[in-house]
Amino acid sequence: MSQPRILVARAIFPDIVDRLREHFDVEANPDDVIWTPAELAARLADKDGVLTTGSQRIDAALLAAAPRLKICANMAVGYNNFDVDAMTAAGVQGTNTPDVLTETTADFGFALLMATARRMTESEHYLRAGKWTKWSYDMFAGSDIHGSTLGIIGMGRIGQGIAKRGAHGFGMKVVYHNRSRLSAELEAECKASYVSKEELLRTADHVMLVVPYTAASHHTIGASELALMKPTATLINIARGGIVDDAALALALRERRIAAAGLDVFEGEPNVHPDLLTVPNVVLTPHIASATVPTRRAMANLAADNLIVFFGGQGALTPVNKPASARV
Ligand code: DGY
Repeated sequence: MSQPRILVARAIFPDIVDRLREHFDVEANPDDVIWTPAELAARLADKDGVLTTGSQRIDAALLAAAPRLKICANMAVGYNNFDVDAMTAAGVQGTNTPDVLTETTADFGFALLMATARRMTESEHYLRAGKWTKWSYDMFAGSDIHGSTLGIIGMGRIGQGIAKRGAHGFGMKVVYHNRSRLSAELEAECKASYVSKEELLRTADHVMLVVPYTAASHHTIGASELALMKPTATLINIARGGIVDDAALALALRERRIAAAGLDVFEGEPNVHPDLLTVPNVVLTPHIASATVPTRRAMANLAADNLIVFFGGQGALTPVNKPASARV
């Protein structure tokens, strides 16, 4: 019997592609070419499965052009690149990579918070530019992390990891807002109190966004939310581009209506709003919150395992949808 045909849509660890080759007829993309949607659709025309990385859009048009496609295994916990309803209607399984990146991403959220509040990249640029000729008492004075109030919007696994770091490691008061309230046990574990979004924005010294991107969470932070924040506050986005109105944020930063921001994700990335590139009080990183070698390997392996287990007939390990009738 012929093996299922799999497309690995972006370059990933070569040994994990080799592992897939033990089970499948694999077309890989070792040169990491960014295919247009039409090129992706052409490659998927004869494929049974695809390993995506979050930058390939899987929608009804693509599914219509890929009649054999049965599973899309995303190497990411977020899956806003999937039109889940279209996939479910077409009988196509979607999977993501939860859990394996939780702690690494929470570490990064904290790193970005600290770099932002303590103005680390701004001061490094100053030093590298040869501008440091004398020490002064208020040079790059930022805001404290310890003892401050951390407001987390989106209290899933990563949000909880950040809450624990803040509360237990830095003695922060943690408040959170989420679609649903955590159990009393989880709130106690995270030392976090549930508040309204408005109260969070008004009271937090540092606001951390960890909410998944959906139509409902689009521009969770826009001009009116920024107006509620303290002028000394920092805003950190490790969630997804589109959760923040980047143009409104750049303006608020330029006018010092909030103190600083740390952004790992952007509207329209890899393009970045030009105004964000010229304001000094923002730390910018290129969507690397889960980027450690062990974690990226764990994500790629989990995506590969989803394909292997699915075609082995046991169902996906970490499904994001439940198609009523699967494609054959
Ligand atoms: C994720 O896993 O969703 C990260 O943002 C990497 O894409």
